[in-house]
Amino acid sequence: MIEFINITKQYTETAALQAVNLRVDSHELFVLVGPSGSGKTTLLKTVNRLVVPTSGQVLLDGVDVAAGNLQTLRRHIGYVLQSSALFPNMTVMQNAAVQLEALGWPKAKIRPRLEHLLRLVDLDPKLYADRRPAQLSGGEAQRVGIVRALAANPTLMLMDEPFSALDPVAKRQLQALILRLHQQLDTTILFVTHDMQEALRLADRMAVLHNGQLQQVGEPHAILARPANAFVADFFKDVSASERDLAQVLAAGFGVPRSGGGEPWAAGASIYDWAAALQANPTLVVQVAGRELRSGDLIGYLATLAKEAAHA
Ligand SMILES: Nc1ncnc2c1ncn2[C@@H]1O[C@H](COP(=O)(O)OP(=O)(O)OP(=O)(O)O)[C@@H](O)[C@H]1O
Ligand SMILES: [Mg+2]
Repeated sequence: MIEFINITKQYTETAALQAVNLRVDSHELFVLVGPSGSGKTTLLKTVNRLVVPTSGQVLLDGVDVAAGNLQTLRRHIGYVLQSSALFPNMTVMQNAAVQLEALGWPKAKIRPRLEHLLRLVDLDPKLYADRRPAQLSGGEAQRVGIVRALAANPTLMLMDEPFSALDPVAKRQLQALILRLHQQLDTTILFVTHDMQEALRLADRMAVLHNGQLQQVGEPHAILARPANAFVADFFKDVSASERDLAQVLAAGFGVPRSGGGEPWAAGASIYDWAAALQANPTLVVQVAGRELRSGDLIGYLATLAKEAAHA
């Protein structure tokens, strides 16, 4: 569990964070979202002490991060950035091994561990282990960055806009990968993005930041349904219409557990694709993330949107 207690970060010119109080529970995939300059990175970096707050405390499982040894702190924290920051002259395997070698892992244990993780992120070790970063796509390089961050089995992953430089297809694939890894590994993930779509797709809960101040904290569907103020409403207004996706239908509580029927659909498909498919086949059953959706769910969801619109 991470607790940010009254965190303020004052730079000469800027108040990057102003009295931020926030709790991130263990095993959550928690997203910090907000426009450029809102303080997301600054808040993230207070956790691994890349930023020292002007005042306030960060507690990790009840212990002040400022209290202990820096190396010990960072050993339990994986960190993934926008650019994967791989060493160009080293292979994928060597890059991924950096932290384990620093921790003194025996060579005989490092390779199997990293081969396991490479498979987990859908990189076949036979094909990728000996490649150099220049021989990887952007998405593949980010996967290697994720393997490197996961190598020492961290209890917490900090991810700062890890997919913002990727094309939309690679971005979606990596978002799906993160959701899967989060389920499989049960690691706490604190994920920063300025992309509200990404936030909605990934977050168990999210916090909206603006000018260094927390605007709202909650589950995505709750924030969409009841934005706390005009800023939040405006920030998410483009989620309207064309961007609504099936993940949000599930998040709103529709669907029943899968019983075997139906066609698998991606949670990212829009409700408009779904409506078109239902027009062609009104009895269509859509399988999404372990649940089944039927035409009645679409009607029910549209009715909740109508209520949200009346609230806003
Ligand atoms: N080292 C620094 N010195 C002075 N000001 C800084 C420093 N780091 C960040 N800031 C300022 O603090 C504010 C918050 O910056 P931060 O990097 O946390 O924003 P962000 O939400 O991560 O933005 P982005 O989406 O562009 O990455 C900005 O106004 C920034 O200019
Ligand atoms: Mg940032």
